[in-house]
Amino acid sequence: MTAPTRPDSHMRPPNENPVDAPEARLPDDHALVMKVMPMPADANANGDIFGGWVMAQVDLAGSVLPARHAQGRMATVAVNQFIFKAPVRVGDILSFYAKMERIGRTSMTVNVGVYAERFQNQGRYIKVTEATLTYVAIDDQGRPRPVPQPRIG
Ligand SMILES: CC(C)(COP(=O)(O)OP(=O)(O)OC[C@H]1O[C@@H](n2cnc3c(N)ncnc32)[C@H](O)[C@@H]1OP(=O)(O)O)[C@@H](O)C(=O)NCCC(=O)NCCS
Repeated sequence: MTAPTRPDSHMRPPNENPVDAPEARLPDDHALVMKVMPMPADANANGDIFGGWVMAQVDLAGSVLPARHAQGRMATVAVNQFIFKAPVRVGDILSFYAKMERIGRTSMTVNVGVYAERFQNQGRYIKVTEATLTYVAIDDQGRPRPVPQPRIG
């Protein structure tokens, strides 16, 4: 009779990751704009979550504060920066924190930080993504339209 063997690393259940990024503090100058849990259908061939899925969620989360400000149609004009700092895993709870960085004449630039609570380690946050995106308010013809300007003083 052979002794039971340890499963190989590729047989590890999802989210069991012995080496992980350090715990992060949630930003107190950003607003929580979205929470979502990725599912197995969102995974890539490694078993981690597909980067394109994360980008789509960041685009949605980043639009929340500009949508409130622009009060109407808008479009993403640029992804200024996008950093995948740590893998996202099936079953993580992702929290998206956003801060308006700049309000231009027709455009709004937002910083988004994404924090994961691992499936079996709730309450401990790991920063998985950092991004900056720019949105433009548009009119019914899809042309840029001015947004309210922040009051000075
Ligand atoms: C968004 C869109 C209407 C802007 O039209 P445009 O003719 O480029 O507009 P403008 O050159 O007048 O720029 C409008 C604003 O966007 C900003 N902008 C344009 N290109 C930018 C870029 N690459 N990065 C950051 N900001 C940019 C401008 O600085 C300007 O901001 P301001 O008015 O606050 O100063 C047009 O580019 C568009 O329809 N793009 C496609 C949007 C889309 O489909 N997004 C989804 C992608 S799947």
